[in-house]
Amino acid sequence: MCICDYVVKYKKSYMPIIAPSLLAADFLHLADECQMINDSQAEWLHLDVMDGRFVPNISFGMSIIEQINSITKKTLDVHLMIEEPEKYANAFAKAGANILTVHLEACKHLHRNIQQIKDLGMKAGVALNPHSPIHLLQDVLSEVDLVLIMSVNPGFGGQHFIPYSLQKIQALNKLKQQNNYQFLIEVDGGVTLENAKALIDAGTDVLVAGSSVFKSANPLETIQLFKQIK
Ligand code: DX5
Ligand code: ZN
Repeated sequence: MCICDYVVKYKKSYMPIIAPSLLAADFLHLADECQMINDSQAEWLHLDVMDGRFVPNISFGMSIIEQINSITKKTLDVHLMIEEPEKYANAFAKAGANILTVHLEACKHLHRNIQQIKDLGMKAGVALNPHSPIHLLQDVLSEVDLVLIMSVNPGFGGQHFIPYSLQKIQALNKLKQQNNYQFLIEVDGGVTLENAKALIDAGTDVLVAGSSVFKSANPLETIQLFKQIK
């Protein structure tokens, strides 16, 4: 499926795309959490891979993703917070990743990384840390399927949204409209039911929500509330 189809399919009638981040799930009941997502209105499942080098935390890797893939019906949106992602892209493709996002700050040869991800049959995303300006992406914007704006410093769930991320999204969306680029804009970190509307108005296509979904009293209902935001 072309990323434009995601836009057509979701943006027109089902905006926004909701991508719950599994990092905030109960790992003692992972199968139940995946089943809850299957039953929900979320279109994507966001999977945070951390290596303890690019970010000061370690999460999970391809073997867990492969098992999740065997029970999930949703698009697997894999966010690599790792050094040298080119070494592992093939393994993540085999594990079932549909979208593979690498960090600009972790790639010496970002253009090559993007091509590699596409050649492996996945959609290619690029993530920007809060300190990185969007103009650094200028020469690859026509190549990518997704741009992920980090609205917290990567490595941990449950942090507070950094307010100026909103201006970054607005500026990125302006560039996108001016040049008719097709990538989706995803925001990740501190997304809540309270700030989601402003994020959508700024041009966000995909909301990643970890704690606000999995730590809520009723995750299914919370996802439904995210879907109703207009
Ligand atoms: C942070 C991760 C996020 C995180 C979001 O490094 O990339 O995806 O899980 O969690 P919340 O929504 O709790 O900020
Ligand atoms: Zn993430």
